[in-house]
Amino acid sequence: MDEFRHQPVLLEEAIDLLNVRPGGNYIDATLGGGGHALEILKRNGPSGRLIGLDRDPRAIEAATARLSGYKERFTAVNLKFSLMDEMNWGSDLKIDGILFDLGLSSPQIDHWQRGFSFMGDGPLDMRMGLNGVSARDLVNKAGEKELADIFYRYGEEQKSRKIARAIAEARINNPIETTGQLARIIKETRPQMPAKTMARIFQAIRIRVNDELNELEQGLNTGVERLASGGRIVVISYHSLEDRMVKETFRRLAAPCICPPRLPSCVCGKIPVIKMITKKALVPGPRQISENSRARSAKLRAAEKV
Ligand SMILES: C[S@@+](CC[C@H](N)C(=O)[O-])C[C@H]1O[C@@H](n2cnc3c(N)ncnc32)[C@H](O)[C@@H]1O
Repeated sequence: MDEFRHQPVLLEEAIDLLNVRPGGNYIDATLGGGGHALEILKRNGPSGRLIGLDRDPRAIEAATARLSGYKERFTAVNLKFSLMDEMNWGSDLKIDGILFDLGLSSPQIDHWQRGFSFMGDGPLDMRMGLNGVSARDLVNKAGEKELADIFYRYGEEQKSRKIARAIAEARINNPIETTGQLARIIKETRPQMPAKTMARIFQAIRIRVNDELNELEQGLNTGVERLASGGRIVVISYHSLEDRMVKETFRRLAAPCICPPRLPSCVCGKIPVIKMITKKALVPGPRQISENSRARSAKLRAAEKV
């Protein structure tokens, strides 16, 4: 279990903005290695509860072991956060805060066997959980146009069609089985393939395999619904598409009446559901980035249920 280590990003900032107080109940929607969770449990004792979710059973196992000293107040559940409403947590449990720390944990990226990284030669998998369509299925079965759209939409890759064509040609005789094979096919589409481009293509496949944007949309809406009045939602994202979705969802939920000004009185009945706590996204300082390179693309936004 020792090997499941993840250095939490924006730890102090997230916990402060979550406004963790003694006796409060919280959800960590992305438990990972349990770093943020541990800090919540240190601050919401002696009676506050924490429910931790993760779609990866290995993260659940590692965090359960790490937080075993808190088992009276901590429950870990192997579940996608889009499905948090399916959990039987007692409808009277008042939730004072919910944290989303999106993306992957370090062990998921670093273990080449999980097939997320082009640095090693693992099986083409990329599933955060253990079921569903894998990267192997997607790369070998999706149409060429679908692949190009994925690279363009989720990876913002200009040469998306050329790369999709190379993949479609390469898989005619034999399926593409490993991350190394895929990386070589992508590399050959350009004389000098920047590592950044390769990372973006792999990330695009991962986002599609795990349906990450739909997960996030559903998770944010359900999370806000579950919050008690005055409860906080804090989201740390690592990709511009995720941050845009967080920003737009918060904006929509914070918007007051949307009736045209010419109407004498409100007919839309819309009232703000949340108020923004962070006006601009918070980002890590240079020191945190130098100590933890995975923090470099992090953006944190927070809001409070009205
Ligand atoms: C960046 S890590 C979280 C790290 C954690 N905050 C810590 O301090 O160790 C993100 C975690 O969220 C999980 N995850 C990502 N999307 C998820 C989803 N839709 N539902 C549940 N868990 C998810 C991943 O499996 C991963 O373990």
